[in-house]
Amino acid sequence: MKRTIIITGGAGFIGSHVVRLFVNKYPEYRIINLDKLTYAGNLANLKDIEDKPNYRFVKMDICDFEGVYKLMQEEHVDGIIHLAAESHVDRSIKDPFTFAQTNVMGTLSMLQAAKAYWESLPEKWEGKRFYHISTDEVYGALEMTHPEGIEPPFTTKASSGKHHLAYGEKFFTEDLKYQPHSPYSAAKASSDHFVRAFHDTYGMPTVVTNCSNNYGPYQFPEKLIPLFINNIRHRKPLPVYGKGENVRDWLYVVDHARAIDMIFHEGKVGETYNIGGFNEWKNIDIIKVLINTVDRLLGRPEGADMDLITYVTDRAGHDLRYAIDSSKLQKELGWEPSLQFEEGIEETVRWYLDNQEWMDNVTSGDYQRYYDDMYSHR
Ligand code: NAD
Ligand code: TYD
Repeated sequence: MKRTIIITGGAGFIGSHVVRLFVNKYPEYRIINLDKLTYAGNLANLKDIEDKPNYRFVKMDICDFEGVYKLMQEEHVDGIIHLAAESHVDRSIKDPFTFAQTNVMGTLSMLQAAKAYWESLPEKWEGKRFYHISTDEVYGALEMTHPEGIEPPFTTKASSGKHHLAYGEKFFTEDLKYQPHSPYSAAKASSDHFVRAFHDTYGMPTVVTNCSNNYGPYQFPEKLIPLFINNIRHRKPLPVYGKGENVRDWLYVVDHARAIDMIFHEGKVGETYNIGGFNEWKNIDIIKVLINTVDRLLGRPEGADMDLITYVTDRAGHDLRYAIDSSKLQKELGWEPSLQFEEGIEETVRWYLDNQEWMDNVTSGDYQRYYDDMYSHR
């Protein structure tokens, strides 16, 4: 079956993995990457597929309703996978307006354009899909009732490795009330509500997924894992917020892209699915793994760089613990993460060490100046 799909934010971290997967796996589809190319968008992330005949890049702002509507008409678009967003919590604390503009108004503009175009067709919603990618951060923070860790109630093949402790009994399930704390998660929560409103009010065939923290190649080095790998390599301080006790649930980005593929094709209209691999880690434990892995791969004595750990003022409103329950997705669609965390981290560290040119490219120039100004302690 032929399809024409707009993937927004395809030049960013997760979007580039989704674009790559769809372009390679579905040569019969036409994949349009719609991206504004903000500081986080980088076409170098897609060098390997940019000449494929089923791929087109369009530089456009998702807030440009007219532009999106015309593009949908011109290309006869029948599917949207919407990832474009401002995605970094620390930036949202500094500049919440941009987050409301892109994440809320941008999503609304995409929804309105899709509604206007699809409603103008004789078959209307038939064969159409608007898939909105969101985050587990909309649920707020979970308590850490077991700081030493307990066996989690669920595991996957990928989480049955060495580390799969849970730090509390509660998990994020799809029916939980939204309780966002940061301007980033508040804006994402609002966009999720708009997507559901378009389903409930107009009958738009939507689906929403909320995923845990992703890691892997091509992540912008303002986020914990790529920032710290680069700093360890260059023996720069590692700014650990607070005591490093906050817990995040990590998923390899390619496994997220695989879930997106499955849910785009098989997910039930109007549903929400949580995506995660039951892989909770305290920040400080991950940081130690990163130090040991970088040191080993660079031929330094393992752990030689532990003294780079620098405790700094905590992030304002820092969510204590995220932990996704993805059993609905596992049960209904049979998705499971493919990689154990230890393998994924090793692959990720190798990738950043082997791609220093990519790293230098994204950490140079304007971005660096903005960043220096924003976090003077780095
Ligand atoms: P990212 O910051 O790496 O990339 C965002 C992309 O969106 C960039 O290519 C950027 O140029 C583009 N973009 C931003 N504003 C735009 C606009 N106005 N118009 C068009 N394009 C615009 O983000 P990411 O980490 O890849 O996250 C992608 C999506 O997944 C986001 O919606 C995010 O909320 C969600 N998500 C991320 C994670 C994570 O761990 N990174 C986890 C769960 C969900
Ligand atoms: P981050 O990668 O920004 O993702 P998110 O805030 O969306 O979870 O941060 C992951 C965790 O690492 C989070 O608890 C904040 C912490 N962190 C630091 O301790 N130092 C840093 O420099 C960064 C960027 C994050």
